[in-house]
Amino acid sequence: MKSREIANKFLEFFKKNNHKIIESSSLLPSDKTVLLTTAGMQQFVPYFKGEKNPEKELKSRRLTSVQKCFRTSDLGSVGDESHLTFFEMLGNFSIGDYFKKDAINYALKFLTDELKLDKKRIWVTVFKGNNDAPKDMDAIELWKKQGIAEEKIFEFGEKENFWGPPGATGPCGPCSEMHYDLTQKPCNKGKKCGPNCDCGRFLEIWNLVFMEYNFNEKKQYEVLPSKNIDTGMGLERISMIVQKKNNIFETDAFQEIINKIREIGYKKDKDTERMERIIADHLRGTVFLVSDGVRPSNIEQGYILRRVLRKAISYLSLLGAKEDEIIDLCNLIINQYKELNKKEILKIIKEEKDKFQKSLDKGFVEIKIIIDETKKLKKKELPTEDIFKLYDTYGFPIEITKELASKEKLSVNENEFDEMFRKHQEISRAGVEKKFGGVGDFGEQVARQHTATHLLHQALREVLGKEVRQAGSDLTPERIRFDFTFNRALTEEERKKVEDIVNKKIRECLPVKKETKKFKDAQKEGFLAFFRDKYGEEVSAYSIGDFSKEVCAGPHVKNTKEIGKFKIIKEKSSASGIRRIKAVLE
Ligand code: SER
Repeated sequence: MKSREIANKFLEFFKKNNHKIIESSSLLPSDKTVLLTTAGMQQFVPYFKGEKNPEKELKSRRLTSVQKCFRTSDLGSVGDESHLTFFEMLGNFSIGDYFKKDAINYALKFLTDELKLDKKRIWVTVFKGNNDAPKDMDAIELWKKQGIAEEKIFEFGEKENFWGPPGATGPCGPCSEMHYDLTQKPCNKGKKCGPNCDCGRFLEIWNLVFMEYNFNEKKQYEVLPSKNIDTGMGLERISMIVQKKNNIFETDAFQEIINKIREIGYKKDKDTERMERIIADHLRGTVFLVSDGVRPSNIEQGYILRRVLRKAISYLSLLGAKEDEIIDLCNLIINQYKELNKKEILKIIKEEKDKFQKSLDKGFVEIKIIIDETKKLKKKELPTEDIFKLYDTYGFPIEITKELASKEKLSVNENEFDEMFRKHQEISRAGVEKKFGGVGDFGEQVARQHTATHLLHQALREVLGKEVRQAGSDLTPERIRFDFTFNRALTEEERKKVEDIVNKKIRECLPVKKETKKFKDAQKEGFLAFFRDKYGEEVSAYSIGDFSKEVCAGPHVKNTKEIGKFKIIKEKSSASGIRRIKAVLE
C-alpha cells in the first residue's frame, strides 16, 4: 500500500465513523506561541479551549486530518531510521464527543482491520501520574479489555506520557502511545525491554492524547470545558511498517528521491547514506516551507528554511553534485504533491542556491587548507577560530566542517564554537553603535528607530497578514531600512494604513517594557524572535503596550512618544518574495 493510499484509508475510516475531514493547515500557524506547525491539533486549539464552537463553525465535533508538520526539535536526529523535520501527521480529534474508550477502539481497529497489522506486535504506554494528574487507570483497563496483554502495557512519567501544550500555554493532557515491535527480539534487558527502550526494537507510531487540561498563564493546570481527544500518527512511520521496510527512507514516499540523489554516483557507505537521508528530508521541508510562504532570511521561519536548504545544498556538493541537481530533486518532490506552485517554489530555491553556492565553493577550498594545516602540525582538533571564520565569512555549515573533520579523524570543539558565536553577536551589536558615531549620539536615535521598527513590523502584520515576517533591517542615523516577506507591492492605501497605525501608536504614548527571559520562554509567550538553536540563553523581550512583542538586543525608548513622527519614503522589492521599506523619523 502506497503512503498516499494509507493516508486516504485513514481519512475514509474516520469519515465512516462520522468524522469530518478537515484540510491540513499551513506550516505557518495562526497560533502565535509557536513558529511552525508541529502537530495536527494546532488548528483546533480554540475549539479545545471552548473559545469556538465546533458544531457551529465546522459542523462536527469529530474531525480528522492529514496535517503537514515541521519539527526543528528533530533536526539533529535526521539521518537515523525514523526521524524527520517535515512529515505528515494523520489525526483524529474529538471535541467534547467521544473519549478514551472510543479513541482506543478506533486506533486498534484501524491498525488491525484496515492496515492488517499483527495485534501481537502492538505495545502501549500510559501515564503513571504525578502531582498534577493521577495515574491513567482508565487507559490501562481499556487496553486490557481490548486484548493488549498486561506485560505489554508500560507506564511512564510526564516526559513521555503527558503531551503538550505545544507553546507556553494551551491544551494538554495525559497520553497513551502505541509502539510497534519491529524485531520481536528483546535486548539484554530481557522483560524490561519494551516501548521507549533505546535498543531500537520498538517504533512509536501513534500518540493518543486525552486532552482534559489547559496549562494557563499562571502556570496552572485547569480543567478544559470538555474532555477531548487529539491523536497523531506519522504517515512516514506507519508506511514503513505497512510496507515492511527497515526505515522511513525506503518507503515509496522517499524512494524516488533517494534514487535520484544516488544518480550523482558516489560510493555508498554509512556516511553517504546518512547524508542522502538528510538531503531528502531537508529538501522536502524546503519545498513545503517555501510553498507556505516562508522565504530564506536570517530570522525566525526564514532562518529555519535557510538553514535546512543550505545544509541540503552543502551535502549535495559534498556528494559531488554538479549544478542543478537540487532543482531536479525539488521538481520531483513537487510532482509528488500536485497542488504545489512549481514555478514559484523552484525560483526561490534557485535564487538561494545561486546566492550560496559561490561562498560554499570558496568554503570548501578554505576548509581543505585548514585540515591540511592541522594535520601538518600533528594536531587532533581543528582550530576553532578558523572554522568560525569559515562559518562567518562563507556561511559554511558547521555540520559540513564536522563531516570533513571526522573523515580525517579530526575533531571540532563545538562548545568553543558556540562561545565564539555568542561573542560575535555582541560585537556586531557594538558595530551598530560605531556606525551611529559614538555612544552618545547613538543612544537616542537608534533607540527611537529600534522601537519604531517594532511598531512597523506589527503594523505590517496587521494590515497585510500574519505571514509577514521581518527578513532583515539596517539602521543609519538618517533612515530605517526594513525588509519583510511579502510577494507584491503595497497599494497606496496599505502603505498609508501602515504609516497611520505606527503614528497612532506613537501618539498613544505606549510604555515600552523590557524583560529578561530565556529565549525559549520568550518565543513560547509569543514574542517575535530571531530563531536560534541554542535555547536557554537569556534575551531581552520588549513589549510595546499590548501592541507589539518582540525579542531584540535593543536599545529602545521608554515610551513611544519619544519617537516623533514616522514616515515611509519608499517601498520596493528587495528579492523574490521580500519587500523593502525605507522610512524616516521626523
Ligand atoms: N498532539 C499529539 C502529538 O503531536 C498527538 O497528535 O503527538
